Amino acid sequence: MFYYLPTFITIVCFLYYYFTRTFDYWRSKNVKGPNPIPFFGNFIDVFFRRKHVGILYTELYKQYPNEKVVGLYRMMSPTLLVRDLDIVKQVLIKDFESFPDRGVNFSKERLGDNLFHADIGVMKVLRKHLTSAFTANKFKNNFLVLAGRADKFIDYIESITMKDSVIDTLPVFRKYGVDSIMMGAFGIDIDPYSDEDKLCDLMDKEFQTPSYCLEMELLFPGALSKLNLSLFSDKTVQFCREVIEAGKTLEAIEKADINRAMDIFMDLRREGTVSSGKKSEEDKELWMKITDDVLAGQVFIFYLAGYGNNALLSTYALYHLAENPDIQELLVKDIDEVLQKHNGKFSYDALKDMKYLQMVFEETLRMHPLTNSVSRNVGRDIKLDGTDFVIKKNTVLAISPYAIHHDEKNYPEPEQFRPERFAPENAKDRHPCAMISFGLGPRSCLGTRFAQLQFGICMVKFFSKYRVEWTKNTVKTISYTPMRLLLTPSESIYLRLVPRNS
Ligand code: HEM
Repeated sequence: MFYYLPTFITIVCFLYYYFTRTFDYWRSKNVKGPNPIPFFGNFIDVFFRRKHVGILYTELYKQYPNEKVVGLYRMMSPTLLVRDLDIVKQVLIKDFESFPDRGVNFSKERLGDNLFHADIGVMKVLRKHLTSAFTANKFKNNFLVLAGRADKFIDYIESITMKDSVIDTLPVFRKYGVDSIMMGAFGIDIDPYSDEDKLCDLMDKEFQTPSYCLEMELLFPGALSKLNLSLFSDKTVQFCREVIEAGKTLEAIEKADINRAMDIFMDLRREGTVSSGKKSEEDKELWMKITDDVLAGQVFIFYLAGYGNNALLSTYALYHLAENPDIQELLVKDIDEVLQKHNGKFSYDALKDMKYLQMVFEETLRMHPLTNSVSRNVGRDIKLDGTDFVIKKNTVLAISPYAIHHDEKNYPEPEQFRPERFAPENAKDRHPCAMISFGLGPRSCLGTRFAQLQFGICMVKFFSKYRVEWTKNTVKTISYTPMRLLLTPSESIYLRLVPRNS
């Protein structure tokens, strides 16, 4: 046994050296941060899924109130949490070209070319073409489609509340999220309300349970690409491919140019190879081959962003409106008065007139930004504004919407739900980067306006018929589960729906 001892000690020493060899990096640059531990860096709680990464960032943000940045280690890789809003502006907007992507790469055949994870070249080509699905004039069409879906949803609510007026809010609203994105973005008619439907729950689990490949990418950046592995499960990949197959069939039947995301996907497929165009003479034109795998990647991000965010956003909004009946009253008044002004007709223009509804939307996303972090990969060695050190290419920067939105310097009494914070007169003096639920700059969320429309329509239809109340089983404070990608409540949110005419 003693014979093996030196070998054993050598291996342990080697591993210790290997996994701690970078741990002096931030100290040498005078950047403060918590002590890392071998192998895990500062992310042990995230690695073992004891804590959501968004919450970890918030705790670290609070621990260093006087720092512009906090130095961390993702396993061994130095990474930086950005606290200062001027640096946030530099990274996301001012020097965007130096922070071009999110630095996570994985198998292109298995959803790796989705716009969210795409590198700068792919992003420039795809954004140029996909942006046209989200322009204002397309939304008048979208309005009608989504309003139809919301009507079906209200019928469903009526049927379930006949048996029990208390609902488990998230799974109920998930059905509208799935239905509205499947029809609104892909033109696919499903029935999430039938008893046989398993799609919502099955795909929800597949899409939102993080795979351990994420930790592998943290530990060995680039490994996923080399091994052709994906962050997402086989079922998720298969689902996204099937949506594209359904799109081809639809195209054959409809031959309509409605300009949903799916119509654009099919146009791109027909073209085969597409370019980023050139904004100026100096710009380099980039080209990309559009395959079914590229399109399946876009289905992934549109589906997840479309149903997942919407269901959570509606759940959180209803929770806080039930908690604050006076605020709920103001919202109902806003909806009723605008509808009256528009002769009782609910239209795209009427929705745009509902200013208090927009404030509820923003305040809900301030309190629950849904995204755990807005991250950027450093594209070239660069100095961050107001610091005196150079940050190296390929360092990942993390910005925490939750921490920034809950910092009382930006929002006094941040735990209070107050939509008035977003009235123009109250918002005008705030730092432009103090609200980042959709990110900012050239890589900000592509679906912001779709999300507003999807949420707004559902809320108007809902509050035209119902009010909400807490029950004795409603949780008093919301905590987030570390087992999901988006900031999801760890417990069910039970709410009582009361018909307005009762
Ligand atoms: C409440 C709803 C939503 C929230 C809170 C949200 C949030 C975000 C955030 C934080 C980002 C990253 C931004 C950045 O890094 O600067 C993002 C990116 C993105 N979102 Fe959304 N999103 C929502 C809805 C949607 C919808 C409905 C769609 C599409 C149908 C969508 C499509 C995308 C895409 C394609 C990107 C990647 C953009 C790029 O990297 O160029 N999102 N979203």
